[in-house]
Amino acid sequence: MAYVWRRIRVVVDAIERLVGGLGTAVLALGALLWALIVAVACLAGVGLLAAPGALRAVRAVADRERARLSRRGTPIPAPGPVPLGLRAAVRDPFVRRDLGWVTLHAITGLLSGLVGLALPLYALQDITFPLWYRLVPPEDGAPGMGWWRIESLSEAFVVGLVGLGWLAAAVGFSPALARVQEWPGRWLLPPPPGVDLSLRVAALTATRAAALDAHAVELRRIERSLHDGTQNRLVAVNVLLGAARRAVRRNPERADEILGQAQDAAEQALGELRTVVRGILPPVLDDRGLAGALAGLAGSCAVPCRLEVDVAVRCAASVEATAYFVVAEGLTNVVRHSGASQVDVTVRREQGRLLVTVRDDGHGDADEARGSGLTGIRRRVEAYDGRMTLTSPPGGPTRMHVELPCGS
Ligand SMILES: Nc1ncnc2c1ncn2[C@@H]1O[C@H](COP(=O)(O)OP(=O)(O)OP(=O)(O)O)[C@@H](O)[C@H]1O
Ligand SMILES: [Mg+2]
Repeated sequence: MAYVWRRIRVVVDAIERLVGGLGTAVLALGALLWALIVAVACLAGVGLLAAPGALRAVRAVADRERARLSRRGTPIPAPGPVPLGLRAAVRDPFVRRDLGWVTLHAITGLLSGLVGLALPLYALQDITFPLWYRLVPPEDGAPGMGWWRIESLSEAFVVGLVGLGWLAAAVGFSPALARVQEWPGRWLLPPPPGVDLSLRVAALTATRAAALDAHAVELRRIERSLHDGTQNRLVAVNVLLGAARRAVRRNPERADEILGQAQDAAEQALGELRTVVRGILPPVLDDRGLAGALAGLAGSCAVPCRLEVDVAVRCAASVEATAYFVVAEGLTNVVRHSGASQVDVTVRREQGRLLVTVRDDGHGDADEARGSGLTGIRRRVEAYDGRMTLTSPPGGPTRMHVELPCGS
């Protein structure tokens, strides 16, 4: 039953994506036609004035698709306005990629969107046909199949069976159609490698601010744990020691009892201090290295966890600590929210980057906006100029992927 619900959510999600994609495909078709008319007019020598407007329209539609795709996976930054002047605009690599995208998406996006919408609509029409076949004159035939005369209920049921075929096709093909529809955008709309320097500067400025923010939050968290935990216990130790001092002459037995309480409170303070320290930089990383520390996390995870670590050269301590916190939060989330029966953690070092993936086979639908753990991870990772992507469609699986520059 759970599988059926999961499948229904996956299909509904895919249809929602297809409808969104169909919207941008219609806009892309409009922008493409306009750009083509302007291009032809330019060849005739009369359309030059309209060209910047057409390019701006293409950029506006492409930005819409960027925003749409960013909501459902790796964020795609918008490149900003089209450069002024036709010559600069035509040389701009973003403009060229936008034009390529608008052409592809106007065709593939429209086709896949129409097919993706038609399948469930045909299914609905044919499956419900036995309910309303009497309203259609027999010479009109079955819906969409005018040559097929339907004169009895049993024949109408055969049309209903055809509808089940459409339904199976919708269930089977919608997710793939949605992926096909998004493919041109995922391919052409991100910044081309090597020319995204200004975007990088903007992103670095933002992540630097996020890093400062993350540090402030971290300091506040440490301050709160010291204040609410350790400091309170030490105050209690102090009070108890004062009481013991006063009691020591009058009632040595009572003094001994109070000293015992003071010792307990001091031990608790120590315990809490240790937890706080562990939260700053897990000492287990120093003792056992990243692989050992992660094996400890995987071993104590309540959901069966497969761990694969392939890191021949150690990374900077702060990067290893970040990777450790990513896996710790990922596994905690899997246990708390995912309903998964298996989780895979892989950590690899590749071309100076540490790649961490936590993947579970649970019901998906993770949303950063609903808690602070995933947002905290994203901030921490971005503070190191790393990247985090979370894919968690309804129905699962959930995959958190983090890339961190190794810094060594
Ligand atoms: N692996 C997962 N599978 C399914 N849902 C998830 C998963 N991870 C997170 N979620 C969902 O995403 C939400 C946000 O997760 P996040 O870690 O940010 O917050 P949290 O775990 O609820 O609280 P905390 O701030 O203590 O981490 C969760 O409330 C949960 O509903
Ligand atoms: Mg969490």
